Amino acid sequence: MSLKKIIIHPDPRLKKICKAVDEVSPALRTLASDMLETMYDAPGIGLAAPQVGVLQRVFVMDVAGKESAPDPRVLFNPRITWASQELSVYEEGCLSIPGIFEDVTRPESVRMVFTDIDGKHHEEEFEGVAATCAQHELDHLDGKLFVDYLSGIKRRMITAKMKKLKKEQAREE
Ligand code: NI
Repeated sequence: MSLKKIIIHPDPRLKKICKAVDEVSPALRTLASDMLETMYDAPGIGLAAPQVGVLQRVFVMDVAGKESAPDPRVLFNPRITWASQELSVYEEGCLSIPGIFEDVTRPESVRMVFTDIDGKHHEEEFEGVAATCAQHELDHLDGKLFVDYLSGIKRRMITAKMKKLKKEQAREE
């Protein structure tokens, strides 16, 4: 297993629609393990493949929290089949937009179909923070970031801040 470098917004790779996975190959299983390791190391509760420069439809998440046993999840080709009418607001962050946290409104519960790391198909309902996280990560696979839900002014301010951060990081490297 190895840690991957997380891409910081703005970056064209974070704006792309990712390709469906044909088959959960050994290489993709390794990628998923690396993504989980990278997510835990960051630390974060979700990470999508384009954030590590791989434009394929897979994300990982673990919303168990510090007090519970780890619950690593890998979702290939996730798709929403149902979303609740009820909405909820969560303060979201993103490993590609470090240090920024903003309220985003999304359906409170969603049902998703996906393929797991063993190639098995599932349909599962997510609610609360799991629903928010799964929707946020699925957005990444369609080139969408949580800042895209914010006002234009806020988004531009955040993007300017990230550009500055990237310049500073480049200088340090
Ligand atoms: Ni994110």
